[in-house]
Amino acid sequence: MTSANYYNIKDKTILITGAAGLIGSSVAKEASDLGAKLILTDFNKDKLDKISEELSAKNKEIYSLEINLSSQSAIELLMKRSLAKFKKIDSAIYCQYPKSKGFGDSFEDFEEHNLYQDLNLQLGMAILFSRKIMMQFDIQGYGDLIHISSIQGVQSPKFRHYENTTMSSPIEYSAIKSGIISITKWLAKYHKNKNIRVNCVSPGGIENNQIEKFQKKYREDCTNIGMLSPRDISSAILFLLSPEAKAINGHNFIVDDGWTL
Ligand SMILES: NC(=O)c1ccc[n+]([C@@H]2O[C@H](COP(=O)([O-])OP(=O)(O)OC[C@H]3O[C@@H](n4cnc5c(N)ncnc54)[C@H](O)[C@@H]3O)[C@@H](O)[C@H]2O)c1
Repeated sequence: MTSANYYNIKDKTILITGAAGLIGSSVAKEASDLGAKLILTDFNKDKLDKISEELSAKNKEIYSLEINLSSQSAIELLMKRSLAKFKKIDSAIYCQYPKSKGFGDSFEDFEEHNLYQDLNLQLGMAILFSRKIMMQFDIQGYGDLIHISSIQGVQSPKFRHYENTTMSSPIEYSAIKSGIISITKWLAKYHKNKNIRVNCVSPGGIENNQIEKFQKKYREDCTNIGMLSPRDISSAILFLLSPEAKAINGHNFIVDDGWTL
């Protein structure tokens, strides 16, 4: 038995935002293999179509919706369409990663309007989405929500990893990701006695063609692996959604091969 087969999420209806992304698409593939019904949403039509077509070849319970999830009205539309299709949503995984044009600019140079856009879209939308999905869970009498934070929300960046590269880890990302951990705890406690769980996964860096110099320095601060694969993260997410994790609530599950040690 593989570890993935152990997680019992068969026939669960799972909504994944940012489903065409690195983490979202990995969760979608793994959840589909385990027999879940999926609502996949993203604003990248080409990538969303690709993953939906790939999964629909084996799983008839895939519903995909191309939508720019950047407003309350877009969230309302997503919920309306999802419920029209499946009548219920057992779990939601909030994986979208909207970035302003200036996201990643240096501390000295970033512009005010980009800062506000990133705070609003990365943290504000996570709160608005949480409110809507929790209201639905409340009506159903159960539900699970997973947010994605980061090692940068737990600990300050290891700035030396970025020396002599064009890469950075911006201050607003740390603020947003700490905020995601905080809202996870808030939501879990606020919904006490409602059969609703809210957890958060904090991934380490995922390998995605970063330059070798960076990957090497990054590896030195890890234990066995270094940069991770999307599958390392999606397996942890699916564990948290499974009945086996029923006692885990309001938790920040760090998956980082020891980077934060
Ligand atoms: N990749 C990493 O190394 C890493 C590490 C730690 C944490 N994380 C976190 O994991 C989460 C997912 O990251 P990822 O690496 O999968 O990102 P990604 O960029 O690969 O995927 C994000 C997806 O969100 C979609 N998206 C962005 N804005 C949207 C919007 N307004 N409406 C609809 N869809 C939208 C994009 O089209 C994309 O497909 C983020 O919260 C990120 O901070 C990532």
